[in-house]
Amino acid sequence: MNPAVVDSILTSRSRYLEELTRFIAIPSVSALPEHAGDTRTCAEWLSEQMTAIGLQNVRIIATAGHPVVYGDWLNAPGAPTVLFYGHYDVQPVDPLDQWTSPPFEATIRDNELFARGATDDKGQLFVHLKAIEAHLKQGGGLPVNARVIFEGEEEIGSPNLDQFIRDHKDELACDVVVISDSPMFEKGVPSICFGLRGLSYFQIDLRGTTTDLHSGSFGGAVANPAFVLAQVLSQMKDRGGHVKIPGFYDDVRALTEREREEYKRLPFNEKQYRKNLGAPKLHGETGYSTLERTWARPTFEVNGLLSGFTGEGAKTVIPATAMAKISMRLVPNQDPDKIAGLFESYVKKVAPKSVELKVTRMHGGKPWMTELDNAYIQAAARAIELGFGKSPVYTREGGSIPVVATFQSELNAPTVLFGFGTPDENAHAPNEKLDLDNFFGGIVASAYLYEEIGKIGK
Ligand code: BES
Ligand code: MN
Ligand code: MN
Repeated sequence: MNPAVVDSILTSRSRYLEELTRFIAIPSVSALPEHAGDTRTCAEWLSEQMTAIGLQNVRIIATAGHPVVYGDWLNAPGAPTVLFYGHYDVQPVDPLDQWTSPPFEATIRDNELFARGATDDKGQLFVHLKAIEAHLKQGGGLPVNARVIFEGEEEIGSPNLDQFIRDHKDELACDVVVISDSPMFEKGVPSICFGLRGLSYFQIDLRGTTTDLHSGSFGGAVANPAFVLAQVLSQMKDRGGHVKIPGFYDDVRALTEREREEYKRLPFNEKQYRKNLGAPKLHGETGYSTLERTWARPTFEVNGLLSGFTGEGAKTVIPATAMAKISMRLVPNQDPDKIAGLFESYVKKVAPKSVELKVTRMHGGKPWMTELDNAYIQAAARAIELGFGKSPVYTREGGSIPVVATFQSELNAPTVLFGFGTPDENAHAPNEKLDLDNFFGGIVASAYLYEEIGKIGK
């Protein structure tokens, strides 16, 4: 590679941080209507940044929700086309009082940059903008053709993205997709992720009566929705952590002995993991290790509960309603729609007639897994070696990026998950952060990645 590319990356570090700080300062919280204007402003900032680094045809494309930002550089005839995907929207910041520094003011402490979006995904997508810039400005061009799309609705389940992809198939045509929106195995252990879980998300609402009731006058006469909700939820899993929804495991791809052996060889310290989480004891499906449980087995989780009196003191009341947000993480080859149907039938069966039950499907996404013997994954491994001086380990992840399955089905394109986060970076939580060695190392590794993909040819 032209040495000027890496040199320019190493000498531009403070400018990169200044720019990332401005990107992060725009509170593009996709879930909150009061931030819709900020999310738009963020898309505009990004489009200006993309033009400034030398991308062409940069456009903000409207969707039914927050816009997609597109740009390309297609001047490498005969070279593969890489589609870069990332998301510029971020999660809400609550609980705000638990942040050590303000969430939208990027603050560096101990070589880590703290802010909402630092790792998920503003910092990670910015890695590619800077690597692309270095090639375009210092290397005389990119060794690949590039198409870049950034969406503003990933954190709310990408409600408009599949349609967008179907509507813009020609503009998105590519040989491979590159995404940096996942953690590496741990700091100092760069990795390539070859599997993601899928998701099926629901809200369930129970109503017992038209209004809250005096629990003395009416206690004993009617069902208590809070209690019924607890009973219903308790029937979703047994004590060994197995999901009891009939048919739930039918399509689960079993772990092979070889995979189990490979997971065991990873430098995973279960005791330290438990300590870092502050959990008195780890818990999960019997018969599986922690990595197997989080990467390769499906789960049923309660994400939130709401019912009755939760203020200070005591109030004798039977709540009229109870609500739960629940979600299931899915693994190959479970299908989110099929699982949603199984859940709906089961919850209707186990809920007693004494309450009214409403089940609402929220978002969902397919699980994903790729073979490791593909040329792009091997190019990524070489790039990590060149950028970090170490060969990568191969991981799966428990999180979901539903669009990865859509890229495969609609564009027939494989994805390389080239993530530079670490598992302890507090994504979705207070004090989200990004390790700066990984940020700068990621830019260098990405610059090499394009070179390595270019060598594969068409
Ligand atoms: N970057 C994450 C996905 C992720 C997390 C990948 C951990 C690998 C490991 C992404 O922004 C995210 O949070 N996705 C959501 C998807 C959902 C809203 C459909 C998730 O996993 O909950
Ligand atoms: Mn993300
Ligand atoms: Mn996220």
